[in-house]
Amino acid sequence: MEGVIDALTRDLLTRQAGFDWSVTEFVRVVDARLPPRVFYKHCPELATRPVATPSGVPVHLQLLGSDPATLASNARQALALGAISIDLNFGCPAKLVNRHDGGASLLRQPDRVFNAVRAVADALGGEIPVTAKIRLGFSDRRLAVTCAQATEAGGAAQLVVHGRTRDEGYRPPAHWEWIGKVRHHVSIPVVANGDIWTLEDYWKARTLSGCNDVMLGRSALSDPWLAPRIRHWQLTGERLPDTTWAMRAYVLKEYAALQRQRLPDRVVVSLVKQWLAQMRQGNAEANQHFQRLKRITDLNTLLNTLTLGKPVQNQEPA
Ligand SMILES: Cc1cc2nc3c(=O)[nH]c(=O)nc-3n(C[C@H](O)[C@H](O)[C@H](O)COP(=O)(O)O)c2cc1C
Repeated sequence: MEGVIDALTRDLLTRQAGFDWSVTEFVRVVDARLPPRVFYKHCPELATRPVATPSGVPVHLQLLGSDPATLASNARQALALGAISIDLNFGCPAKLVNRHDGGASLLRQPDRVFNAVRAVADALGGEIPVTAKIRLGFSDRRLAVTCAQATEAGGAAQLVVHGRTRDEGYRPPAHWEWIGKVRHHVSIPVVANGDIWTLEDYWKARTLSGCNDVMLGRSALSDPWLAPRIRHWQLTGERLPDTTWAMRAYVLKEYAALQRQRLPDRVVVSLVKQWLAQMRQGNAEANQHFQRLKRITDLNTLLNTLTLGKPVQNQEPA
């Protein structure tokens, strides 16, 4: 997830069993083949074999663009650097990205989705797979199935469907039953995405979509124990206890310790607060701690105070 999940976050989130794979932030492709340093910046794991987090969860490289030839040449570049698959992003709702004809804007013209996937699949020549991520449409869902079919026809080996249109942004609910409709019309594996915040959401999303697999976005950050909770339930049928503030604070401390090795403290403070802000989503307690901590500017003070003090009451998540 662009701006919020980097290699260190992936490392931390995959230390416990839960995730089967992960995807980089998108690499924005416009009109040129990007130099290797851009790929290494988004995916430092390319420097390792296998291309995976330290605990062994594969890391897939995501491209976002619209021009088939440029996407193809960047896919080849990524392949040469050791990428294990190329994921194409047709879901990004950002106005800037869409204005420049990328992300979800292509969902208005399924043939362009097809052309992009086909060009990348051809460029990769079967050496590594191409996968795709779509939303249910741009302003409405009329082309949801056609776009999904376009990814399959273009050669995608797997499709993630975020159950909202671009115009729905991140507004709940995600339409899991619509992901199911899409799934019925393609034969590649479909992964359900959107608004899976709890174990119950996971059950519902799987039941309504009929998908075997789900992708977690914001909830991976807001509750780093959600994926392990899901995995534990899959393996044992038992439900792990809810994530406490102390557990969240532990992750933030670990994260700060990792970031501190390469960045100045003032930047690490912002990064810790950014993750803390993500933790507020769907968690009133984390929001109350955010209110208590948000004005602290010194990293040591912030870390020492994470588990001290009472949360500030009566604050709604932003
Ligand atoms: C800050 C932010 C950055 C994101 N960046 C990406 C990205 O780079 N690539 C991508 O495929 N999806 C990206 N997404 C979308 C998520 O992967 C996911 O599809 C979306 O948030 C819905 O799932 P969720 O409800 O589990 O968060 C981003 C979402 C957010 C909020």
